[in-house]
Order: sequence, then structure tokens, then C-alpha cells
Amino acid sequence: MTASTTPASPDSNAGSTAFIGGGNMARSLIGGLVARGTPGSSIRVAEPAEAARKALADDFGVATFADGAQAVDGADVWMLAVKPQVLRQVCEALAPQARARRPLVVSVAAGITTAQISRWLGGGEDADAPAIVRCMPNTPALLGAGVTGLFATPAVDASGRERAQALLSSAGTTVWIDDEAQMDAVTGTSGSGPAYVFLLAEAMEDAAKRQGLPDATARTLALQTILGAARMLTEPGAPPPAELRRRVTSPGGTTQAAIETFEEGGLRELVDRAIANAAERGRELSAAND
Ligand SMILES: NC(=O)c1ccc[n+]([C@@H]2O[C@H](COP(=O)([O-])OP(=O)(O)OC[C@H]3O[C@@H](n4cnc5c(N)ncnc54)[C@H](OP(=O)(O)O)[C@@H]3O)[C@@H](O)[C@H]2O)c1
Repeated sequence: MTASTTPASPDSNAGSTAFIGGGNMARSLIGGLVARGTPGSSIRVAEPAEAARKALADDFGVATFADGAQAVDGADVWMLAVKPQVLRQVCEALAPQARARRPLVVSVAAGITTAQISRWLGGGEDADAPAIVRCMPNTPALLGAGVTGLFATPAVDASGRERAQALLSSAGTTVWIDDEAQMDAVTGTSGSGPAYVFLLAEAMEDAAKRQGLPDATARTLALQTILGAARMLTEPGAPPPAELRRRVTSPGGTTQAAIETFEEGGLRELVDRAIANAAERGRELSAAND
């Protein structure tokens, strides 16, 4: 099914989830949901690009639409998966349906606050405020190996939290955040975090080459070391990172020589500053989108 031919009555779509935006993040969430048994027929996707609509319909059996208003028709969960720059326009176009339907709105748009989404959807205050869950996933979500911070507004009830968590669990681990202001810290830690590990991989690979190793060997050694260490860190019952490090650092040995170099070079302070700067940039970008 690539487009709805008969306009569905709102209640015939009750229980369905509408995705607004059918790009990378939507695709990985939908793929995860369908793989875990959610019927594709209960997922409706609005996506302007015809090729992307066709691929989503062919791959997952979802109903696709060129227009957001049609996709959300009757759906009680709306997943906003467009770029932050277009979210305002998307929400304002859906505001009449949001007021009438009062869906659970879940957003993965980086840096956009629940107050902004609420305002753009024409939401009222207090008892009349829309139920919004703001999420910060990261790119490993595309492999189902992400981690997502979630924040819910007071209007989201326990079943809304469960539904939002189930949606994002298809992309990996989920963590609830109580204070929305901390979402910028989530962005600075896990949202931008994969790039910090990519940088470490680059630096290790380059250093290995300077030690005379062939290019391919240097890359394999660096990447598989990071993969193996990440697996040790996340094994069930794994000790904390500091303990794992202690266990592989014999006094006077090779690892200690390297760790001392990192510590003397101020690695901890540098990581602290990097994450603080990423969080600050997140705050600035949110303000710029207002
Ligand atoms: N990818 C990640 O790892 C990641 C991580 C954290 C957060 N996020 C957040 O996830 C959101 C989506 O990111 P993404 O990587 O999936 O981006 P993406 O691949 O560009 O997907 C966005 C999709 O939305 C479509 N779109 C644009 N305007 C639309 C409209 N008015 N109605 C319906 N669909 C519309 C775009 O179509 P066109 O291309 O034709 O414009 C595109 O296919 C962003 O807000 C981002 O901040 C992504």
C-alpha cells in the first residue's frame, strides 16, 4: 500500500501510530517495531518523497501518505520524525487535528522543546496541554543499538509513557529524564557521543600507522579493540569502567604507560569540556529554533 485510496474514518485508525517524516530515524524505528511484531498495517507514514514512501510500504507494509494531515487521521500516537528546521511548519499544519484528537505526540527532533511543540500545535495550558514526549536518540539507533533519553510533559499518563518507551525501545535502550533542561546534557553525552568514539578510532588508527603498521591492520586493530571493549563494558553484570581499566593496567606495564600519558594530557578535563560545550550548543540551537 503506497497511499490511502479511501479516506479512513478516524476511529478505524484508532490504535495506529502516525509517523510524520519517513527518513532515516523513522525507517529504523519502523523496522524495529515491525521486527518485534507490530503489524505494518497499524503504522501510517507521511513522507513527501515518493521513492521513500514506496520503499517504506514495500519493506514494512505500512500505509504511506504525501500529506501529514491524512497520515494522522484517527491515529492516537503521532511520531514527529522530521528535521528540527521544518517541525514548526509541520506542527502548525496539524494543530487543528491535534486539538480535536488530543494524541500522544512523540518527537525525536533534536533541540526542540516540549513548550515549542505545544505552542506550535496550538496547545493550551495545564489541563488542556497536549501530551508530549521529547526524545533524544543517537545514530546507533539505525542498527537497533542506540540509547534514547525521554522526557514526558505532565499531560502524559502512565500508558502514554509506556507507548512512547515501546516506540523508542525498537531503536535500543531507553532512559527517562525528569527535568527537560537535562535533555541538552543527554545530547552532549549520547546524542553527539558516537562521534567522540569515531574520533578516538581515527586517532588510534593514525597512531598505529605511525608505529609502522600497515593501513588495513591499523584500522582492524583500532576498530575491533573499540568493539571488544564496548562489549566488555556492556556485558550483563559488567563491573564499572574504572574497575575494568584497573584490571588491565598492570603496574609498570604497557597499559599504564599509555594511561598515564592520557591523564597527564588532561583527557578527563577535555572530555568534560567537550560535553559541556555540546550541551551549551544544544541550548543555543533550541533558542534559535523558537
Ligand atoms: N538520524 C539520527 O541518528 C538522529 C539522531 C537523533 C535525533 N534525530 C532526529 O530525528 C529527526 C529525523 O532525522 P533523520 O535523520 O531521520 O532525518 P531525515 O532522514 O532527513 O528524515 C526526515 C524526513 O522527513 C521528511 N519531511 C520533510 N518535511 C516533511 C513534512 N512536511 N511532512 C512529512 N515529512 C517531511 C523528509 O523528506 P525530504 O527529504 O524529502 O525533505 C525526510 O524524508 C530529526 O529531527 C533529528 O534531529 C536523528
